[in-house]
Amino acid sequence: MSMSRRAFLTWVGVGGLASSLPVALAACSPDTEQTEAAATNEFQSVGSVAELDKTGFLLNKKSPVGSVLVVRTPEKKLIAVNPTCTHAGCTVAWVGSAKKFACPCHQAEFGVDGKVLKGPATKPLKTYQAKLQGTSVLVKQA
Ligand code: FES
Repeated sequence: MSMSRRAFLTWVGVGGLASSLPVALAACSPDTEQTEAAATNEFQSVGSVAELDKTGFLLNKKSPVGSVLVVRTPEKKLIAVNPTCTHAGCTVAWVGSAKKFACPCHQAEFGVDGKVLKGPATKPLKTYQAKLQGTSVLVKQA
């Protein structure tokens, strides 16, 4: 009689464990969503290497990370900035010969690191990390 009672308790124990499994699985779902949200700060394609090679720069005002201007210097260094001038919002242009960005509206100038070289702008351009992967130019929020 004592044997069958123990067997009964074991059976209940297993049943209790099994019924707690769906709860554990449900608790995992929010973690999965958090991982996906974090993945948005990954490198994203903003254009093709062929396009960058054609002129030495690539301007994409509607890239996944926002407006971006990627430049490849003669030394093959990649520079990526948000080309929206911090003075009044015009789009700056890359001046390869002088290795700087110049704004056509009020002649502000920015260095390769986005820092202001000449006013009237007072705030630096936002910069991005950039790299090439296969035929794509990838950019990531710095
Ligand atoms: S908008 Fe660029 S200098 Fe004024």
